[in-house]
Amino acid sequence: MLTQRCKNLKRGRERDKIFHKFYSYHSVVSTNEVAKQLLQKNGVPDYFIVSTKIQTQGKGRWGREWWSPEGGLWCSFVTPKISIPSLRAALSVVQVIRRLTPLRAGIRWPNDIIIRDKKVGGVLTENFAPANKEEEKLIIGIGVNINQEGFPPELPEATSLKIELGKTFSVQDFLHELVDEFEKILDSEIIDQIKEVLVLLGKNITAKVKNGIKTGELWDIATNGSLLLREPTGIITELMASEVEFIR
Ligand code: BTN
Repeated sequence: MLTQRCKNLKRGRERDKIFHKFYSYHSVVSTNEVAKQLLQKNGVPDYFIVSTKIQTQGKGRWGREWWSPEGGLWCSFVTPKISIPSLRAALSVVQVIRRLTPLRAGIRWPNDIIIRDKKVGGVLTENFAPANKEEEKLIIGIGVNINQEGFPPELPEATSLKIELGKTFSVQDFLHELVDEFEKILDSEIIDQIKEVLVLLGKNITAKVKNGIKTGELWDIATNGSLLLREPTGIITELMASEVEFIR
């Protein structure tokens, strides 16, 4: 009787899950690229996750390479269109780090995950229209440095959970916590939560934009996820994530 009740409860919980399908690999070029290949096939669900232990050509924003050795979490969440996907993913990573560790992780807009001024993770979201389907999809690529013990010299601003805390984490457990967190905030209003974990809010920043540099105070984040920069003239300028390479 009790066993039957447990089974029913479990089924109930499973029914609530949005991501049912996980495609897991040992080594791929990039989980975002694998997601694109899977989307070209018939029968893939609306929501799925691709993860791998190693990426041989992991991609970062602005065409940068993303160093992806064994020990990190390299995954892509595939969804139909949702609002502010990168900030949603970054917030989920921050919440998981804060739940699993004593670290005060934060978001450096638009989607860097930061611990003590160093970068522990990042998000690369791509729109993708599969040739055989009507609907455009989102591929939300998430990288979190978990168990790396060091980084190449060209990445002096990177850190990992292991470097910060001196202990090893289960990458698999982290992924499952991340999926739970992402599902929880998939269609909720998150701007207030973003502001609570936003590093540099109210601070003077330098933003590297396509045609140069903009400076001013990080004034606010708009409901569409844009950054509102208060320039020295007092003018508030809206910067979209797609036009900003980074802020400091
Ligand atoms: C950035 O901060 O520049 C974004 C980094 C995103 C890295 C992840 S790792 C999983 C997914 N696959 C990729 O090739 N990139 C993203």
